[in-house]
Amino acid sequence: MTDPHAPQASGSGYRRPRPGTQPEYLHPPYKSSVKRAPAQPLVPLPHGLTEVTGPSFESELADIQACDLTCQHAQPPLGERIVVAGRVMDEDGKALPRTLVEVWQANAAGRYRHPLDQHDAPLDPNFSGAGRILTDDDGRYRVVTIRPGAYPWGNHDNAWRPAHIHFSVFGPAFATRLVTQMYFPSDPLLAADPIFNCTADETARGRLVSEFDWDTTLPGHALGYRFDMILSGRDATPMEAGRGLVATTSQTVGPFYSIGLDWLLRDDLAPGGVPGERVSVSGRILDGDGQGVPDAVLELWQANPDGRYAHPEDTQTKPVDPAFRGYGRVSTDANGRFQFTTVKPGPVPGPRGRIQAPHIAVSVFARGLMKRLVTRLYFPDEPANATDPVLGLAPAARRSSLVAAKRPGGSLEWNVILQGAGETVFFDC
Ligand SMILES: [Fe+2]
Repeated sequence: MTDPHAPQASGSGYRRPRPGTQPEYLHPPYKSSVKRAPAQPLVPLPHGLTEVTGPSFESELADIQACDLTCQHAQPPLGERIVVAGRVMDEDGKALPRTLVEVWQANAAGRYRHPLDQHDAPLDPNFSGAGRILTDDDGRYRVVTIRPGAYPWGNHDNAWRPAHIHFSVFGPAFATRLVTQMYFPSDPLLAADPIFNCTADETARGRLVSEFDWDTTLPGHALGYRFDMILSGRDATPMEAGRGLVATTSQTVGPFYSIGLDWLLRDDLAPGGVPGERVSVSGRILDGDGQGVPDAVLELWQANPDGRYAHPEDTQTKPVDPAFRGYGRVSTDANGRFQFTTVKPGPVPGPRGRIQAPHIAVSVFARGLMKRLVTRLYFPDEPANATDPVLGLAPAARRSSLVAAKRPGGSLEWNVILQGAGETVFFDC
């Protein structure tokens, strides 16, 4: 059945990555990937309204104009002051304005301000190591910071991470979400780093290395580095017509993502006053050994109770509630448990305009995951599940992994099993 209100855009998704330019989930030299990479093949997900829409932070975070990690405390931090600047674009070279860029990093001595970082290097009372910025009208961002130090980690004997800065970027849609890491030119540690080297394509890896840049360098003040981030382009644009840019390679959020991402934790997607059927969801994220994943973060994206997304590409003639944005971010606790509350979304058009059952789109990030995992949460006792075009793509025997269970009392339980028995269905988005 075709929804007459389905926007044209629902027929036009985002391009898939070129072969070899994104990491595989399983990369044995990176030990944390071994028990967290899905064992089952991902289910290809045609992009519908769920994937071509996504959260915007412009109205809520309009005050974020500058990102200077060197003036967050009484004194400047120790270390070599640098400026990192670049553009966020799509593969056609189109600027992505007003998109949220989050950064986090170790201090100059190679230590994160995080309770789990036990590296025997000094903390700097004048450096927190996190910031955020919205890109300008040309998609440009600029971060003033100090050059992070290399640090040892337990992956293998004498393992050291090359100096890097973590970046998180949203872009215009759920489909364009990217978390990556920026490296520095001529770093001898790059050649031995299993995270940097998890991507087969050497050119794609090379694009994770920033360029020293005189134009960004400030006389007498700071060296400048240029780092552009390229997000997927629309598949309606022929590749030949574009500038031939290639989407930036994903890199893991690592174990210390909370430094950069916790400021936006949002476990109630529908604050008081938002009408709708309130639901409470909790569950655990489990690895291939059945152990809770204590360092994961989930991002949630959903339509409002009428079935409309808070996004300009959703042009359905359904009510919009300005108080409901449809975005949530929750992290797991020491046992891998997460919890959030929201209102149940209404049905929205999916691929080729077919109506989808109520669902929440979910991105999973964690140490050991080289790129996000995409899955969906559907609701129990929902007749529309039987005809949902995306649920129908999942192997029948595993479909139940996408449907939450109702607990006595009415709250929902939904677990995410990364690998092994009962493995959750994950989508190639
Ligand atoms: Fe890191």
